[in-house]
Order: sequence, then C-alpha cells, then structure tokens
Amino acid sequence: SNRVCHFKLVLLGDAAVGKSCLVVRFVRDEFFEFQEPTIGAAFLTQTVQCEDATVKYEIWDTAGQERYRSLAPMYYRGAAAAIVVYDITDPDSFAGAKSWVKELQRRGDPNVIIALAGNKADLEQRRKISQEEAESYAEENGILHLVTSAKDGTNVKSLFVEIAKKLPKN
Ligand code: GTP
Ligand code: MG
Repeated sequence: SNRVCHFKLVLLGDAAVGKSCLVVRFVRDEFFEFQEPTIGAAFLTQTVQCEDATVKYEIWDTAGQERYRSLAPMYYRGAAAAIVVYDITDPDSFAGAKSWVKELQRRGDPNVIIALAGNKADLEQRRKISQEEAESYAEENGILHLVTSAKDGTNVKSLFVEIAKKLPKN
C-alpha cells in the first residue's frame, strides 16, 4: 500500500554529541565540521519507505546546552519516537544519555520508541564507551542501540529505518 504515516520524533542528548549532524546527514546527506550549536530547537521532515507504509518523520532537533534543558518536555511530549544521542568518546555524554532515557520512560509517551545512538563512530581510536557497555544498558532498558557516524554516514539511515519498523502504522 502507499499509506503515509506521520510520526513526531525528537532528538535529545548533551551539547555537541552530533544531534544536528545526524539529522542533517539523514535529511540532506550533508555533514559540517563546524555545525552551529542549536538554539532552542530545529524542525525538519524526512520520509522512510517501509514495507507496509511510508513513514514521514516530523523531527524536532533539540538544543543540548544546559540553558535549554527546561524546553525539552515541550519537544518530547507526544513524540512517537526519540533518539537519545551520546558521543562514544565522551563518558559524560553517556551518563547524560542515560538520564534522558530515564526521563523519557517516566514522562514521555508510554509507547514511545527509544533509540540510543552512540555517535562519532569514526573516532574509534578515541572511544571511551564500549559497544558491550552500551548494548547491555540498551537491552536492560528495552531500547534500540546503534553506533553511528554523522561524519561518514555509518548507520544514520538504519537508525531511522529501525525506528520506523517499530512504529505502529494504523
Ligand atoms: P547542540 O545543538 O549544541 O545540542 O549540539 P549537537 O548535538 O546538535 O551537535 P552538532 O551536530 O552541532 O555537532 C557538534 C560537533 O561534533 C560539530 O563540530 C560536528 O562537526 C561534530 N560531529 C557531529 N557528528 C560527528 C561524527 O559523527 N563524527 C565526528 N568526528 N564529528 C561529529
Ligand atoms: Mg544541534
């Protein structure tokens, strides 16, 4: 069939983990070394073709800087899916991601699909968070986990495709 299903998706995570770069890679297939920090939030759309439907994502790319933290509930409220991003070279950002997952599980939509993205996979030699650690955390919490690189494109489309497969298309 050619049904189009619309879903609100939010990106959350600490500043500079690469949320905007992941979205820009997914939506425009571009990457910028000097991506500007997001102010408030940015809105973009992109579609993914599934077997059963076309998924149209309405994407809210939030700002990770501390001063914007109080705005986050506005963006995750009513979101069908959330991508929580950390930087594999930055343990603080992994701790930050865990606190976003906890907040989503407590205050987000009860059926929200959560995907944890370990970004900057191209910086493998500087990796601080092992794949095993992130995977066991994701498994315990019943969420998806992918290691991505907005820079070289690794797993960026897959991230949105894996989420799309899990979304209810009625
Ligand atoms: P805020 O908007 O402040 O919350 O930051 P953000 O999470 O949107 O980060 P942003 O996308 O602006 O990226 C921050 C920096 O990391 C930029 O200099 C990017 O070029 C860099 N970056 C993002 N993704 C990657 C990646 O996959 N690999 C590498 N090496 N650098 C990346
Ligand atoms: Mg940003």
